[in-house]
Amino acid sequence: MKVRQAVVDDAPEISIFLQELASLGKRSSPSDQEFVCGQYIDHPDNIQCAVAEDEDGTILGLQILKMATESNIYGVAQGWGIIGTHVKPNAARRGVGRTLFAATLNAAKSAGLHKIDASIAETNVDGLTYYDAMGFCTYRTPKGKVCKFYEVTV
Ligand SMILES: CC(C)(COP(=O)(O)OP(=O)(O)OC[C@H]1O[C@@H](n2cnc3c(N)ncnc32)[C@H](O)[C@@H]1OP(=O)(O)O)[C@@H](O)C(=O)NCCC(=O)NCCS
Repeated sequence: MKVRQAVVDDAPEISIFLQELASLGKRSSPSDQEFVCGQYIDHPDNIQCAVAEDEDGTILGLQILKMATESNIYGVAQGWGIIGTHVKPNAARRGVGRTLFAATLNAAKSAGLHKIDASIAETNVDGLTYYDAMGFCTYRTPKGKVCKFYEVTV
């Protein structure tokens, strides 16, 4: 498995597996290519948007790390990181999320971040368990969500 920066040309492939996640009830946000480019690959607040790919170049998952700006819509403290993770359903539990987080953590350290927020739907057991396994801890629970944070140490 290789991790690299996502590029706009990845949007069609990413969009397809996000639609698969949605059809399995594991995603509620839009999954179209425009959303993938605007919110993930090319978001102006991005610190990094990484994809993991198989030996044959198939994209297995992506992880986005954004900087929380003053006006961020997530209610995250300014200057924290904001993380999102999306793994192709047939690649789950193969260490894709774990591999992506190692790369994201390096980017967070390079950017000088101290804390990273992960906001997860309270019903998303996979997501909650994944972020717990990565070392995140719950710090607030707005309606329907569990917000966890990761303390970045150098
Ligand atoms: C949650 C998600 C990112 C996990 O990705 P993944 O590639 O399957 O995770 P990994 O294989 O790297 O797992 C790392 C660890 O997380 C935990 N974990 C991940 N998925 C789990 C699950 N379904 N059940 C229990 N533990 C799980 C385990 O501790 C695992 O370690 P182990 O396999 O050695 O036991 C993936 O299932 C996904 O994209 N789900 C849909 C979108 C989503 O919920 N995103 C996150 C919240 S916004």
